[in-house]
Amino acid sequence: MSPALAFLGISILGTWGLASIGLIAGGIIMLFFPGDPTTASDNTLGGIVLIVAGLVSGGLMQVVVAPLLGLDAPVPMRKKDIREHASFTRWAKAGQVRDYVDGMPKEIRLRAQRVLIVRQGENIYAMNALCSHARLPLAGLAGSPVKAQPVQDGCVMCPFHGARFEVANGKVVRQPFSSSFNNDHPFLGGLQSKMFKVLRFVPMPYQAFPVPKFARPSMDAEDAQTYPVKIEGEDIMVGLPR
Ligand code: FES
Repeated sequence: MSPALAFLGISILGTWGLASIGLIAGGIIMLFFPGDPTTASDNTLGGIVLIVAGLVSGGLMQVVVAPLLGLDAPVPMRKKDIREHASFTRWAKAGQVRDYVDGMPKEIRLRAQRVLIVRQGENIYAMNALCSHARLPLAGLAGSPVKAQPVQDGCVMCPFHGARFEVANGKVVRQPFSSSFNNDHPFLGGLQSKMFKVLRFVPMPYQAFPVPKFARPSMDAEDAQTYPVKIEGEDIMVGLPR
């Protein structure tokens, strides 16, 4: 990529990011520092609109920027888009069997794709590293208390909201926010399940209107895309899509 093109891209993205932050900051100022009290009600409405616009703008920016930076796996996130292994014919080395702790999922990056590797004894499985519920990493966040969970009954559990997926075929066997998960995790489960439900409707000062379907946070997880795996000697080879 030429330096001029890179500079142009960075300028556009920087302006976009600053504009998103500005919208959110403006909304907060209108809400909490309204100034002239005679216009307080208008400020409330305007502040909420600005914050929502800033969040939407920031979200759109992430959708555009993340694939460009290789931060997101360009594999299907929807069950209806899941692809057959026959088209996953670019084989990439994913380390050796001994590099993986038995029963503990680990995320790796293979040619800009985020892949979750799961070792079960001598068997190795690979699936999309992002949970199909809210696109959060199934292996948790490094340096945070949200960490990868050991495989149980052949299933990996998303540490954020408790969805469970079979490692062998990616099938979702438990949806997010199950009552047992919510009971065990008051913040990630109990509180966030309520937040997800509330976010499906944006409260306005005078009325509540439904958020368009495409922008609503999903309450459900879908089956995950898996990758073909073969062992060559000690090496793990993962098939990536063409
Ligand atoms: S992000 Fe995985 S269950 Fe919500």
